[in-house]
Amino acid sequence: MMERIQVGLGDRAYEIVIGPGARALAADLTGRRNFLVTDSRVAELWGSWAAKEIPQAGSFVFPAGERHKTPETVVSICRRAAELRFDRKARFVALGGGVVGDMTGFAAAIYMRGAGFVQIPTTLLAMVDSSVGGKTGVDIPEGKNLIGAFHQPEQVLIDPDFLATLPPGELRCGLAEILKTGVIFDEALFAELERDPDSLTVAPDYARFVPLIRRSCELKAQVVAADEREAGIRALLNYGHTFGHAVELLSDFSIGHGEGVAVGMCCAGELAARLGLWTRKEAERQKRAIAALGLPVALPRHCTVPAMLEAMRRDKKNRDGAIALVLPRRIGAAEVNRDVADAEIGAALEAVHA
Ligand SMILES: NC(=O)c1ccc[n+]([C@@H]2O[C@H](COP(=O)([O-])OP(=O)(O)OC[C@H]3O[C@@H](n4cnc5c(N)ncnc54)[C@H](O)[C@@H]3O)[C@@H](O)[C@H]2O)c1
Ligand SMILES: [Zn+2]
Repeated sequence: MMERIQVGLGDRAYEIVIGPGARALAADLTGRRNFLVTDSRVAELWGSWAAKEIPQAGSFVFPAGERHKTPETVVSICRRAAELRFDRKARFVALGGGVVGDMTGFAAAIYMRGAGFVQIPTTLLAMVDSSVGGKTGVDIPEGKNLIGAFHQPEQVLIDPDFLATLPPGELRCGLAEILKTGVIFDEALFAELERDPDSLTVAPDYARFVPLIRRSCELKAQVVAADEREAGIRALLNYGHTFGHAVELLSDFSIGHGEGVAVGMCCAGELAARLGLWTRKEAERQKRAIAALGLPVALPRHCTVPAMLEAMRRDKKNRDGAIALVLPRRIGAAEVNRDVADAEIGAALEAVHA
């Protein structure tokens, strides 16, 4: 059965379709010329399916990996589109994980000042987070996602069948984002991840993923509809990310985004416990759930306190030099805090080191 969730954004409203077989709806992407964008790994695994089932007037494949999420790759995507004579009525189709989605969306946002695009996410992380909400962009050496645009997709097709080829480590990264959504908005979602974690990681029971994806998308759709440009509540979705982006950056992107978020949530949880924003017991519960999913709960040694603070200060959510942090109040609620002293943050980071 197919589930449909509306993202209520007026004349830019769109639908998220979720369920086994949702990818078959790509056959209905007719009426306009489609430009398929994917990465080398997805092309290897799903390229022949895409060639047969997604109507397309051209395609572009770039090397897989966060390292390639750069302005240069976006320029290559746009040049390929121009070479193939796509006009602004083109429909860009992003088939892949968050890297493909973020870059294809950004290329669509700037190609001829704006073409449409459709998301067909193939990683769990992209299914529960990056494919919904219209944040697009690329990394530069100075920081992650520092160049980008808000550009909403026209449709999102989420098919859990893609998960069958996803390595366990990537599955875990997606689970980290679901856990994040649970901590900030929904205790029941969090508890669902605490239940039999092995059936989500070691021996995945894919049927369990559909309700998790649906609930995550439902919450994200509500948040995006209420605050598309992140003036308020949407900022809560950055829980664990200010710390996590710093870890990713200091690790030269050798760790997955979800792993960064996982250890970032541990940092935020530790800090919140020290500040008395939530109880030590809740911080421990969060840490146990993260560890049970096989995600990291300790900062790598090279992420020293000064290096972390310096990397965090570059975060684009900051204003006037103060580090903006999302901190939990309980499992199911969080808030943005801009007045935590560096010394407090440093002490919490010290405690999260291995
Ligand atoms: N725009 C947003 O709102 C938002 C939200 C969260 C994360 N992000 C971004 O998403 C990115 C991370 O996304 P990701 O984890 O999907 O990374 P990714 O796109 O790099 O995918 C991870 C790896 O899995 C491979 N892969 C993809 N689908 C596969 C499949 N079905 N089977 C086997 N392998 C497959 C990819 O080729 C890649 O090697 C980061 O750049 C992050 O900043 C954006
Ligand atoms: Zn994220």
